[in-house]
Amino acid sequence: MTSTVDVSHAAYFAFRDRLLGDLRTTVLTGEQLCEAGRLIYGRPNRLSLYGIPAPRMEAAGIRLLGRTTIECCIDDYADAVADTLVGLHTGIPHEDDEPLVVDLFCGSGNFSHHLGTRLGATVYAAELDPAVHAATRHNLDRIGARTRLHLGDYRDLLGKLTARGPRDTYFVEPPWGPAFTPAGLDLTRTSPPVPTILDDIRRSRDGRPCLVAIKTNDQIAHDSLNRSFAGARHLRSITPEPTLPYGANMQFHLYRLGSGAEE
Ligand SMILES: C[S@@+](CC[C@H](N)C(=O)[O-])C[C@H]1O[C@@H](n2cnc3c(N)ncnc32)[C@H](O)[C@@H]1O
Repeated sequence: MTSTVDVSHAAYFAFRDRLLGDLRTTVLTGEQLCEAGRLIYGRPNRLSLYGIPAPRMEAAGIRLLGRTTIECCIDDYADAVADTLVGLHTGIPHEDDEPLVVDLFCGSGNFSHHLGTRLGATVYAAELDPAVHAATRHNLDRIGARTRLHLGDYRDLLGKLTARGPRDTYFVEPPWGPAFTPAGLDLTRTSPPVPTILDDIRRSRDGRPCLVAIKTNDQIAHDSLNRSFAGARHLRSITPEPTLPYGANMQFHLYRLGSGAEE
C-alpha cells in the first residue's frame, strides 16, 4: 500500500515539475487535464473550474495553461470558501449596495468568479502574465463571467478601486516561487511578500476595514502566516481533505484587516 502511494506521489511531483516547466504556458490537452485531475485530486472530475470538470473542458473550449492548472483554486474549494465568506458578509452591518470583490493575483479567476456569482457582485481581477491573462480572458468570456479582468500589476488595479464598505473582500495568492521549500511555505518570501501586499491593500483604502482571503499550503514555515497578518483578526481557516503528502495540500484563511493600528 505504502509503495502504491509513493509511486502515485512521485508521478504527481514529476507532472507538477512539467506543468511549471516545459508546459508552463502551454494550453493543456483534454488528456493532460484529466491526468492532472487524477494526480492532484485523485480523480479527473475533481479538477473542475467555472463549473466545468476536466473531462469536459476541451469540448467546452476552456483553455488552461500548465502553470494555472497547478496553481488554480478548484470549484470545490472556491465553493467552500465562498460559502464561508457569504456567511461572514451576512453578519457585517453595511451601507453599500454591493461589496468590492477583488482578486489581486487571479490566475484562472475561478475563486473570485464563484464569490462574485454568490454575492451578485462584479469582480475586479489582476493578472500580470500575458499568457495567463489571454487564457483567462478567453475562459471568462466563454462562461459569460462578469469579471473585469486587468492585464498588469495588482498595484495598478488597487490604485483604480475605491473602498465601498466593510464587506469588501480581497483574495490574495501571489506566486510562491522560492518561498516554497521543504521546510514549508514562507509567506514573507512570496513574490511579492504577503506583508507588502497587505500594506498595499490597507493604503489603497486608507485603512478602512475589509476582508482578506488567502490560499496557502498545509505546511507554513516560520510562523509566517501569523507574522504576515500580525494585528489582523483571524476569522476562519478552511482545510480541504488532503489528497497529497503534507506540504502539498491547500488551505484557506480568512481575516479581517483594518488600518493596522486598531486591529
Ligand atoms: C498562484 S497564481 C494564482 C492562482 C489563482 N488563485 C487561481 O485560482 O487560478 C498567481 C498568479 O498571479 C500572477 N501574478 C504574479 N505577479 C503578479 C502581480 N504583481 N500582479 C498581478 N498578478 C500577478 C501570476 O502570473 C499567476 O497567474
